[in-house]
Amino acid sequence: MSQWKAICRVEDIPVLGARRVARPGGCDVAVFRSQSDKIFALLDRCPHKGGPLSQGIVFGESVACPLHNWTIKLDDGCAQAPDEGCTQKFSVRVESGQVFLDLDELNTLALDDAQAQAAALIRRVAA
Ligand code: FES
Repeated sequence: MSQWKAICRVEDIPVLGARRVARPGGCDVAVFRSQSDKIFALLDRCPHKGGPLSQGIVFGESVACPLHNWTIKLDDGCAQAPDEGCTQKFSVRVESGQVFLDLDELNTLALDDAQAQAAALIRRVAA
């Protein structure tokens, strides 16, 4: 059975924007909000060259990466053709306006990527 971690309220995420969730052991998770208040969560790393998707432009149920403008679908983390590749997707639950992420996924998914960890460290130092 999943254990859910409260992250924020839906209104804490900008409409057509994102909020970053830091993970001590790996790359941040980006939590996105669509125009219709649907919430999605992806690893904050573009499948192309690791761009921070949380800083991209959200449109419909996709995000345009800020580095080279690839379109990444928010529901599965995959690049829109002809581009290829996917970033890690995370499960989201919204209950009474509160956004939750799966604690097991936060603690286990996409932690073994040294490049992702280095990118997260660089972003934290630059912030
Ligand atoms: S790093 Fe995202 S499009 Fe290149």
